[in-house]
Amino acid sequence: MNNERLFHILLGITGSIAAYKAADLIRQMQKRGWEITVIMTRAATHFISPLTLQTLSRNRVYAEMFDPEAEWVPDHIALADRADLLLIAPCTANVMAKLAHGLADDLLTCTALACPAPLLIAPAMNDRMWDHPATQANRRLLEERGVRFVEPAAGDLACGREGRGRLADLEAILAAVEAVWQACQAKGRRSS
Ligand SMILES: Cc1cc2nc3c(=O)[nH]c(=O)nc-3n(C[C@H](O)[C@H](O)[C@H](O)COP(=O)(O)O)c2cc1C
Repeated sequence: MNNERLFHILLGITGSIAAYKAADLIRQMQKRGWEITVIMTRAATHFISPLTLQTLSRNRVYAEMFDPEAEWVPDHIALADRADLLLIAPCTANVMAKLAHGLADDLLTCTALACPAPLLIAPAMNDRMWDHPATQANRRLLEERGVRFVEPAAGDLACGREGRGRLADLEAILAAVEAVWQACQAKGRRSS
């Protein structure tokens, strides 16, 4: 009998040019049998369509904080409760800053505050944005709180510059998710 428990990943997608890569990330995660629910920021919807993500994730996509169709338990609480991992990929400088300072002005950041599961962040941005002391200070703050990062890669950037800021390779993101999954499995085995 297969006693592996279902692994629920809440995937936050933010307003980065790298948002299109989330489509392939979802496919790769699905191949591993993980369940994926997407939360997008409004900015992310300019870069990739919710319909694409809904089809690939085989789940409803969430983007609105104030949804008239929502159940009595607010979406940010219900989503936070069932997650084994909150992965934000790609993560903008803006969302990193909001998470570092506990802001909760949209569904993704509100869910992050309410979510007891591990938080894994794969940033993507222009190299100067990544190197900026404000972004680096936010990163340190988050790391001090136990947030894990998948370091952005160096190379050609969409803005035409070269430097560090590209979304990490999907293999690196998947390896980091896999590590959380293994820990989750081990915990499940210990408590069963
Ligand atoms: C074409 C374009 C590409 C962008 N790419 C990025 C990016 O890769 N990383 C980033 O931090 N911001 C990027 N931005 C800026 C964000 O979209 C902007 O800060 C937005 O407010 C982020 O919203 P969110 O963090 O709620 O998703 C880009 C903006 C444009 C117009």
